[in-house]
Amino acid sequence: MTTIKYSTHYIDLTREQLLKKVAAAMSSKRFEHVMRVEQTALDLARRYGANEEKTSIAALLHDFAKEAPDHSMRDLIISENLDLDLLSFGNAVWHGPTGAILANKMFGIEDDEILQAIAEHTCGSLPHAPLVQKIVFVADFIEPARDFPAVEHAREIAKRSLDAAVFFELQHTLKYLLEKEARIYPKTLQNYNAWISENEKGKE
Ligand SMILES: [Fe+2]
Ligand SMILES: [Fe+2]
Repeated sequence: MTTIKYSTHYIDLTREQLLKKVAAAMSSKRFEHVMRVEQTALDLARRYGANEEKTSIAALLHDFAKEAPDHSMRDLIISENLDLDLLSFGNAVWHGPTGAILANKMFGIEDDEILQAIAEHTCGSLPHAPLVQKIVFVADFIEPARDFPAVEHAREIAKRSLDAAVFFELQHTLKYLLEKEARIYPKTLQNYNAWISENEKGKE
C-alpha cells in the first residue's frame, strides 16, 4: 500500500486525519471501496505523471456525499446554484457535484483539479480534462473489487492509455444505462460525443 504525506498545500489535514473524516461519513463497505480507489488512482498517477497528493485527496473524497441524506443534498443543489437537472437524476449522479461542494466547504479545498475530479467522477471527462479527473473516473471503475464482465479489459486498457480507458468507460456506462432503460445525464452524453470528435480528429 502506498501512503502519501500531505503538504498542507491543498488541505489542512494529514492523510490520516482525512481518512478518519471520510470513514465517519460512510459505511465501512464504502470506505473500503474508497481506499481501493485511492490505491488504484495512485498507481495511475505514477504511471501517467499526475500529482500524487491531489490524486489521493480527490480519490479519498470522491464518494464523500454518496451516503449524505437526499434532502440535504437537494437543498445544497438549490442553494449552490448547481444544475437543477441533477434533481431528476438522483444521488447516483449528484453525489459528484455535491461532494465537491462539501470538499470545499468542510475541508477548505480550493484546488480546481481536485474539486473537478470529485464533481465529475459520476459523468466522466472531456478529452482535455486534467489528469486527476480522468484518473479518479477510471480508478473508480477498475478498482480491484469491481467484477463486471468487461473489467479485466478495462484494466488492460488503463495500463496502456488513460484516454482510451476514459472512452471505454463512457461507452460501457452508456450501454449499461441504455440496456437498463435508465435516464442518461446529458453531461455524460456530451463527454462521450466530445471523445468521438477527438477520436475522429486522430484519424484525419
Ligand atoms: Fe461515486
Ligand atoms: Fe466510487
